[in-house]
Amino acid sequence: MPPLTSAWPAPGDPEEDVQTCLPHLGCVRLAALRIKAAANSPVVYAGRLAAGVTSTGIFARLFGLQDGLLVLLAALATWKITGRTLKPVNAIRDDLAVINGDDLSSRVPEPQGGDEVARLARTVNATLGRIEEAKLNRDAVLAQQRQFVSDASHELRTPLAGLRAELEMGQLHPEDTDLNELLASALVDVDRLEAIITDLLLLARVGTAGPADRTSLNLTELVQEEVSQRCDRLPIRVGMAMPVRVTCVRVQIARLLKNLLDNAQRHSRSLVEVSVRTDGPFAELTVDDDGCGIPVPDRERVFERFTRLDTARSRGHGGTGLGLAIAREIAHAHGGTLEAGESPSGGARLLLRLTLDGSPGATATPG
Ligand SMILES: Nc1ncnc2c1ncn2[C@@H]1O[C@H](COP(=O)(O)OP(=O)(O)OP(=O)(O)O)[C@@H](O)[C@H]1O
Ligand SMILES: [Mg+2]
Repeated sequence: MPPLTSAWPAPGDPEEDVQTCLPHLGCVRLAALRIKAAANSPVVYAGRLAAGVTSTGIFARLFGLQDGLLVLLAALATWKITGRTLKPVNAIRDDLAVINGDDLSSRVPEPQGGDEVARLARTVNATLGRIEEAKLNRDAVLAQQRQFVSDASHELRTPLAGLRAELEMGQLHPEDTDLNELLASALVDVDRLEAIITDLLLLARVGTAGPADRTSLNLTELVQEEVSQRCDRLPIRVGMAMPVRVTCVRVQIARLLKNLLDNAQRHSRSLVEVSVRTDGPFAELTVDDDGCGIPVPDRERVFERFTRLDTARSRGHGGTGLGLAIAREIAHAHGGTLEAGESPSGGARLLLRLTLDGSPGATATPG
């Protein structure tokens, strides 16, 4: 038999207990005892088999079983806890799965508290809210565009239909047709078509001017120059005090003023008045006339495209109905506002507000 142990108690500690296990024999508990302190002292070994539960094999099996149980318990607890934690996540997922592009009004359930899942639910709901708002805005813009295309087509069809009817009549009855009269009438319709298309293009391009197109200029000078170049039926009285500087696209502000003056000239009885002044951080330009004015309920509607209040001026004649729409688009493109009101004489007042150069805040708000 090989030695059971190599234990050799030190002189200062003459007794040593050890356990050793051998195949076929099992585990043995040994006591090693040094007889004397001398270095060459003999050592006596006494041992007996380790019995019962102290056997290493049983211990190993017991510990193995215990480990397995612990792992099982841990797995069960993890599964339970994870399931409970992820329950609201599953509810969120189920709700999200049924939300589609047609109905974005649904929201996911928001658990109580401020843990990660509750925060996730709030973020998801906030995102859904923004998507719904964006969709509503997009739908509104699309509806506006559809309406605009439909209105524009309608406006273009009227002069086109007139033109076609005249030309067909001329073709059918050449002997009864005065060619000069036919051409003159056709040209009126062509002029009208051209005017509508020009205004539509202008309307589409107003917002596309870049910063390089903007210059700082004196609004007072611009008004004087534009008024002096006009040849009108009624006099225009210009009232202004000092230089009023604004940064703008000159041709656009000149076009805005032209549209307002054209309207005032068309509707005024005896006089048109233009004035430029400052009001706090704003430059104000007003065009007043002494006509019959714009009724209160129509003061917003007149800025819509193709709106004409006077039925006497039918679609086939008169303006395109785009003048004030263009003017307001220009005002907005400059961060300003354009509103309709009443002049002191009871006629119409159109008020443009732009931000003065050097004043804080880039946009004007109605006062
Ligand atoms: N100064 C005003 N007094 C009374 N009504 C006005 C005045 N300005 C505009 N309106 C009304 O508002 C409508 C819309 O004006 P807008 O300038 O947009 O179109 P328009 O003058 O008819 O056509 P366009 O300007 O394209 O020649 C006019 O048709 C008119 O009924
Ligand atoms: Mg007009």
